[in-house]
This record gives sequence, C-alpha cells and structure tokens, in this order.
Amino acid sequence: MRHIINILDLSVEEIDVLIKLADDIMENPDKYNEACRHKILATLFFEPSTRTRLSFESAMLSLGGQVLGFSEAGSSSAAKGESVADTVAVVSGYADIIAMRHPKEGAPIVAAAHSGVPVINAGDGGHYHPTQTLTDLLTIHHEKGRFDNLTVGFCGDLKFGRTVHSLIGALSRYSGIKFVLISPEELKLPGFVKQEYIKNKNIEYRQYTSLDDVIGELDILYMTRVQKERFFNEEDYLRLRDCYILTAEKMKLAKTDMCVLHPLPRVNEISTEVDSDPRACYFRQARYGKFIRMALIMKLLNAAD
Ligand code: CP
Repeated sequence: MRHIINILDLSVEEIDVLIKLADDIMENPDKYNEACRHKILATLFFEPSTRTRLSFESAMLSLGGQVLGFSEAGSSSAAKGESVADTVAVVSGYADIIAMRHPKEGAPIVAAAHSGVPVINAGDGGHYHPTQTLTDLLTIHHEKGRFDNLTVGFCGDLKFGRTVHSLIGALSRYSGIKFVLISPEELKLPGFVKQEYIKNKNIEYRQYTSLDDVIGELDILYMTRVQKERFFNEEDYLRLRDCYILTAEKMKLAKTDMCVLHPLPRVNEISTEVDSDPRACYFRQARYGKFIRMALIMKLLNAAD
C-alpha cells in the first residue's frame, strides 16, 4: 500500500509511466471505463476546492468506481472535534482509497499513519499539492514536449503557494532547469523549499520583484493567486493582492511560445483578456487534472497492470 503525500514519493520513472497512462486514457477512454469497478474513492475535503475534488470524483466515476465524502469540515464530525486520525481510521473502512485536503501542513502524514487504504494528499495548507504537480507536469509535457532545459518563472505568492513548492521539487529532478522567482519581499519562497530543491541541487535561480524585467526570458510562466485564506491580517492581503496582474500588454513582452500556467482559481492576477491568447494554458491544464488523477488512482489500486 502506498500513500502520495509529496510529489517526491513518485520517482521520475513512475511519473513518466503515469503520464503515458494519462495520455492513453485521453486517447482511449472506453478502454478504462471499468478499470476501478466496485472500488470506492473517499474525498475528505476540510478546505474548499473546485478542481481537485471534482476532478478526483470525475476520475473515479470515469473508471467505473464510486465516490463518497464531504466537501467542508463543517459537514463532517470534525465540527464536533473528531481528529483527522480517527476520521481516516473510520473512512478507510468505507473506501478503497482516500483523497484528503486539509488546511494544516502535515495532516496527510497523520492520515496515512492511521489509514488502512492509500491516502493521496490533495493539498495541505501552505505545504504541498502533489496531484496539482502531476497535472502541471502533464500540461508541460503536452505544451512543451520536455521537462529539461526550461526556464520556469514562478510569480506571485511563493511563500504559501503549495503548488509552487511541489512543482519546484518535481522540476528540480530534471537537467538544465532554471528557476526565476518573482514575488514581493513578503511572499518569497520559504527557506525549506529553496534549500532542499534549489540550493542543495545547485540549480540556477534568480529572484525578482518585477515581472516585466524577466517575462521575456521565460519558457513557462507559473502565475499564482495571493491567497486570502493564508493571511493573518486583512491589511497585508489588501496591500499585496494585486501586486502582479498579467495583461495582454505584458504578454507582448513574452516569447511567442511561452506557456502560461496557473493552478486556478484566479482572482485578478491574470486579466481575462489573456484567456484567448494561445499561450494561456490554464484551462487546458485544469482539464488534464482529471486524466492524471485517473492514472494515479489506477496505479495506487493496482488496476493498471
Ligand atoms: N488547483 C486547485 O487546487 O484548485 P481547487 O482549490 O479548486 O481544488
């Protein structure tokens, strides 16, 4: 039994296998529509979600399985004070696999320790979001055709942005990667991510506060939302929320084949006028999330053999 807590729980080779499987699922969906028949996925979401929860549920339904779960802590017995450990110990008696989102960093580790079935981290606080990273990698594979020799810019909230932390960890395993970190001073990449995934691996990186200064060098621009829910005071959020807004005017400074990714939801950080630019990949990216989650569920349930 395997749990997926961090993207590094999967080797580069295993990620390649998942991407190939997701590609085959996209091309031949009928081949897989009974792959998880009689299996049940539990989605335990203690924090709001649209894409992650619904794409997990859509993935399991498209594999012929069934789903149960809750979409907010308030509708579960967490509201009565039940611990994550007890919740998961109980739910693992009702389901074959669990996808869990929780606002506290490390909660999926506790869940895995008390589960009798595989646990997938569907986002833990400002820590990690491995299945978003699989989604991002499938998107990069489709849009750029490679993972090495890319200059990848991360822009916005790099401090609390769990999707940023996970994707930096994943890309740090490929050769010729360069990172450009664009954020206000207060939202810089945390030391643990920089040390473990960039400095320890001698990866080339630069830090900027201005997007305009570097957008022309990027192969991929990964935009992020300034996350209101991670701030302790409203004043700081209001001051920082609109620090970067990608507009059609700014896109004129970018390479003609630059790829704009965003885990979504967006608020103001990408102007809607950018959506019609062929370099805007974020809605395609959200769609890919279903297929890579289908591949992951099949692998963890040994349904891909
Ligand atoms: N990208 C992502 O995690 O979106 P949701 O919060 O809607 O699941």
